[in-house]
Amino acid sequence: KIIVLDYGSQYNQLITRRIRDFGIYSELKPHTISAAEVRALAPKGIIFSGGPNSVYDEGALGVDPELFELGIPILGVCYGMQLMAKELGGRVEPATEREYGHVDIDVLTDTDPVLFRNLPAHQTVWMSHGDLVREVPDGFVTTVTSKNCPISAMADDDRKFYGIQFHAEVRNTQYGEQILRHFAFDVCGATANWNMSDFIEDQVHAIRAEVGDQQVLLGLSGGVDSSVVAALLHKAIGDQLTCIFVDHGLLRKNEADQVMASLSGKLGVKIIKVDAADRFLGDLKGVTDPEQKRKIIGRDFIEVFNDEARKLHGIDYLAQGTLYTDVVESGTDTAQTIKSHHNVGGLPDDLKFKLIEPLNKLFKDEARELGEKLGIPHDLVWRQPFPGPGLGIRVLGEVTEDKLDIVRESDWVLRDEIAKAGLQESIWQYFTVLPGFRSVGVMGDGRTYDYTIAIRAITSVDGMTADFARIDWDVLQKISARIVNEVGHVNRVVYDITSKPPATIEWE
Ligand code: XMP
Repeated sequence: KIIVLDYGSQYNQLITRRIRDFGIYSELKPHTISAAEVRALAPKGIIFSGGPNSVYDEGALGVDPELFELGIPILGVCYGMQLMAKELGGRVEPATEREYGHVDIDVLTDTDPVLFRNLPAHQTVWMSHGDLVREVPDGFVTTVTSKNCPISAMADDDRKFYGIQFHAEVRNTQYGEQILRHFAFDVCGATANWNMSDFIEDQVHAIRAEVGDQQVLLGLSGGVDSSVVAALLHKAIGDQLTCIFVDHGLLRKNEADQVMASLSGKLGVKIIKVDAADRFLGDLKGVTDPEQKRKIIGRDFIEVFNDEARKLHGIDYLAQGTLYTDVVESGTDTAQTIKSHHNVGGLPDDLKFKLIEPLNKLFKDEARELGEKLGIPHDLVWRQPFPGPGLGIRVLGEVTEDKLDIVRESDWVLRDEIAKAGLQESIWQYFTVLPGFRSVGVMGDGRTYDYTIAIRAITSVDGMTADFARIDWDVLQKISARIVNEVGHVNRVVYDITSKPPATIEWE
């Protein structure tokens, strides 16, 4: 394994991710870790991450100096390089100008730098720094230079200490992956022998050690992350895990059944399913304002969850499907006392839980891979994003049972045709919307006066911006024909051709 010490860079989890992608286990550790603790972990290498501070700031994040005596290779990235330089007797200074963005570097090939072996001497890297190393410590040589940063990388091959001023972990660094590979394999001598199955085993041990014979509660939303946590915790502690699945009646067709069949049926997870559709629909009756609808759905969800949780006794932990992307603060313990605002939006004060978040070191696609390894079906794990308020915000205006049926059935047809056309992976999100107005049509010999269904299909990276998907006319034609034929009370289908911005992905 290779450990990464956390100095607060926004990219630090990306370093562990890249190393894991090489098949080498990697995780983030607090920078306060002691040399003795590191020795006990016996890593093949250590990486100091970047960070937003200056090594000369008051209270700047430091390092146990004995780490340099362990004989373990160390790579310092950005702040990590500056810290290494300062600790070992080099000199760090503020740069005359802050550098941010793409920078051309020159590798000093006559120094035979191991991290840059077989790579072009001129390459582009991603820099983001205010300070720079002005003088390398004894034993080091400068291996890379650039216009504004004469010491862009440094190396001490004898002690196997390396520093790079740029961020090798981001894609904007042309040969970043190769540079990290050189460190992991050539310098540290790590072997690629880690995969998701090892992660499962490690987590199972860690969860058992943490939880002991205590009880854990998990709120299932029907989404991917909470389902994966359920499967993982179940493997670790079996029936000490209880899930509460609030079915608000706003899920897609067959979705609740699918979640129950795979988690409860196939894996044997203990799930209390609460059918609360009547309550949600009752509270939504007559409400047309989108924000109001969202608030009601969110509030009901918490109340139903809390009502069920109160009936249970002896629960010690609350589990959550938090991913690394959701973690605001890194390097925290796996368990902490939860405050009333955490999690599902507000737990009552009489419920005091410790929190357990076994996915908080993973990226979304890693969590999905984990889910599959744990036996959750491929289709379920790779589902497209689905909003918490569900179909409630895809029936515009007042939500009624009849209108929900129309959206649910048309969505089902859309998903079926997208799958048949092999487009599930290339379209980021696709669904149908019921705007709620009616228009005139003709069917058979008769006039109809029925609803319109809108199709929304977008491409995106993260949902923050989006473009409408250029779906083939023939595919759209099939979808349109099937919706009008198979879904009652629909006589017209339109395609939404706006990007985000100015529109949003959802219509409400
Ligand atoms: P918008 O409509 O804001 O959606 O462009 C961006 C992405 O977020 C999803 N979305 C939600 N997800 N709770 C969620 O968990 C919500 O209340 C919510 N509203 C929108 C939406 O489906 C899209 O993927």
